[in-house]
Amino acid sequence: MIERHSSQPLRPLREREFALLTSFIRAECGIALSSAKKALVESRLKRRLQQLGLQTYYDYYLMLARDTGPERQQMLNLVTTNETSFFREPAHFDLIERMLLPRWKRELAEGKRPASLRIWSAGCSTGEEPYSLAMALEWGLRDDRSWRFEVLASDISMRALEHAARGIYPIERAASIPAPYRDRFVLRGRGAMSGSIRIRDEIRNRIRFGRFNLHRKRYALPEPFDLILCRNVLIYFGRRERMAVVDRFLDLLAEDGLLMLGHAESLQGESDRVRCVIPTVYALVPSRDELAAAERGGPDA
Ligand SMILES: C[S@@+](CC[C@H](N)C(=O)[O-])C[C@H]1O[C@@H](n2cnc3c(N)ncnc32)[C@H](O)[C@@H]1O
Repeated sequence: MIERHSSQPLRPLREREFALLTSFIRAECGIALSSAKKALVESRLKRRLQQLGLQTYYDYYLMLARDTGPERQQMLNLVTTNETSFFREPAHFDLIERMLLPRWKRELAEGKRPASLRIWSAGCSTGEEPYSLAMALEWGLRDDRSWRFEVLASDISMRALEHAARGIYPIERAASIPAPYRDRFVLRGRGAMSGSIRIRDEIRNRIRFGRFNLHRKRYALPEPFDLILCRNVLIYFGRRERMAVVDRFLDLLAEDGLLMLGHAESLQGESDRVRCVIPTVYALVPSRDELAAAERGGPDA
């Protein structure tokens, strides 16, 4: 990267510049930053502005407004919060292991579903969430090789996605992976790689990583999904943007699919399209048309 250092020092972020930058960020990716985040935004962007040899945050705003992509991506890499861990919020993985996997197997045995599953980890950060999902599914379905599943893992941060695709982490991160999964799906680095772990290809090959901005009007993705996880992502969004994303998820969900949100994200009183299965896990409620058809005795009755 070319570093341009200016002889003039960078001026501190002013209120007006903060307002311009935050409205730009909100329009770009849905993230709403309150005035309490001013120091955070300044510290995350400061080094970038110095590299570019800029003297004011207004100059950076103008640069972003004219930019066709690369600098916007750099900025998004810096302002997004990518904190995550393997098997974070374990209640969701318990639900998958104890309720969903047995249900899917039963439905297959009864001829009510194909032996295939589609899962989306939306806002997957550095990959720990989709790898956890793939491990739980690979393990839970190991007795029947006819099952096919695919995990789509997306994020807006290219920096996070590049890390995710490598599948290499500091060894301490493996502590939250349940022992049977760790023994089966995780390799311990040796020599120059000691102190690191690598996720086995068997698991990596189950995942399709891609950049996807959730704050876009249309999601042209093949549907339906049996499970969508969007955890600890929408908490950073404005309310309007958050509910628009939830609606688009619900449009992509299979009839009996589930949407999982993060521990601090509730749809209680926010959407009449869902019912709560356990806190933070939501299922679709049948529409009025579907209910009326069921009362008449079937969809075509
Ligand atoms: C705190 S991490 C959550 C990671 C993981 N889901 C978990 O719960 O551990 C939030 C992620 O959301 C991503 N993100 C934020 N805005 C986004 C957007 N508009 N589209 C897609 N991803 C976004 C960030 O880049 C970040 O990696």
